[in-house]
Amino acid sequence: MTHFQWNDAYSDGFKLIDEPHKILISLINDLYEAQSRGMLQSTIADTLDKLADYTVYHFSSEKGLFAEYEYPNAAEHLLEHDYFVDKVKALQLELSKGSIVLSLKTMDFLKDWTITHILGSDQEFGEFVRQRELGT
Ligand SMILES: [Fe+2]
Repeated sequence: MTHFQWNDAYSDGFKLIDEPHKILISLINDLYEAQSRGMLQSTIADTLDKLADYTVYHFSSEKGLFAEYEYPNAAEHLLEHDYFVDKVKALQLELSKGSIVLSLKTMDFLKDWTITHILGSDQEFGEFVRQRELGT
């Protein structure tokens, strides 16, 4: 993975969705920076904790939006969230035991999953909201 930053192509067109995605991307980038600069394992673990906490918080607010808009694809979207949270929690556990160092492959996974999810399922939801608001 290389430097990961927000790109307008990731936009859903809704501040409520884009702003947390910007934060999520910057937290993944912080983790990448911490790891690639060879920071202390405890610093890397703290950075991963911040990412995990924010991910859980953000996914739960997306879940709230799905309920608010009665989004029909909520269940499958939430499964994608669960998958990512499980992976991040497993990494937290391994890192806290000191049994792994974050590999480039792991960082690539975090980045690629996030891009794929934002460009796929999240934009699909954004499109649904747009259609709803247009009353079509
Ligand atoms: Fe999502």
